Amino acid sequence: MSHVLTMEDWGKQEIHDLLHKAQCFADNPEKYPFQRLYAANLFFEPSTRTKISFEAAERNLGLDLLHFEADTSSVKKGESLYDTVKTLESIGADVIVIRHGKERYFDELRDHIHIPIINGGDGCGHHPTQSFLDLLTIKQEFGMFENIKVVIAGDIFHSRVARSNMEVLERLGADVYVSGPKEWMNEEMLPRYVPMDEAVELADVMMMLRIQHERHAVKMVAGPEKYHERYGLNEEKASRMKKNSIIMHPAPINRNVELADALVESPRSRIFKQMKNGVFVRMAVLWDVLEKYKGPLWKR
Ligand code: CP
Repeated sequence: MSHVLTMEDWGKQEIHDLLHKAQCFADNPEKYPFQRLYAANLFFEPSTRTKISFEAAERNLGLDLLHFEADTSSVKKGESLYDTVKTLESIGADVIVIRHGKERYFDELRDHIHIPIINGGDGCGHHPTQSFLDLLTIKQEFGMFENIKVVIAGDIFHSRVARSNMEVLERLGADVYVSGPKEWMNEEMLPRYVPMDEAVELADVMMMLRIQHERHAVKMVAGPEKYHERYGLNEEKASRMKKNSIIMHPAPINRNVELADALVESPRSRIFKQMKNGVFVRMAVLWDVLEKYKGPLWKR
């Protein structure tokens, strides 16, 4: 058995032979016996959907994964985000997906990292692949965005999903409204405010959001029942929605807080379709950035 355990096991000639082989790989990347493209998923915040659907998308495209777990990496020894990403790039990652708690963490990376970075969520900032999957779900339902009335309801201020979606949906021609506690809205959001009772009758899409407790500086005073009654979507309110309107939620869901348990898998709900679409849009995003970076991929 040829293990690689200590340098003492290697004779001088074996060392020179191995160095020669390594130099051949360095000099002739196009002659690797197996042409591979590597993806690395760097998640510094918890995730179920984004992390796993990126992994599924990467595997569907035939990418190889370079595994990274923040808790067992040298981040624990104080390595910076920049040095971690630069390390993955040096090792051979062709594309990197990052979720990080710091808003706009990517500003310090974008001009110095030469492989594509895909943002899997930055603090309260942005979540572009969630937007893409939401857009695909709305397009599948209505065939267009123009004049579709989308109400984004809940903890708008702390939601990167709301921020990404408000901008892009308006640009694509949808009418975007917000609902929920006004103290979780800024001046830019307030002109779009509609009370929940009106929102449910107006909306083609009710996009419900989780309360982002982890991003609140001050603890919420109202309990979950009070919140559900005032701002949540319950069965009574849902019964007043338009015939063809749908319920969306990026998840994770707090059942019976922002959304009644009975509505999560109801006929109006597209929540699990959103998750399924997450794999397809992430495949498309990976393909797009890799093709821009590497050239046409079909020929590979
Ligand atoms: N919607 C979303 O981003 O879910 P995760 O936090 O589980 O990835």
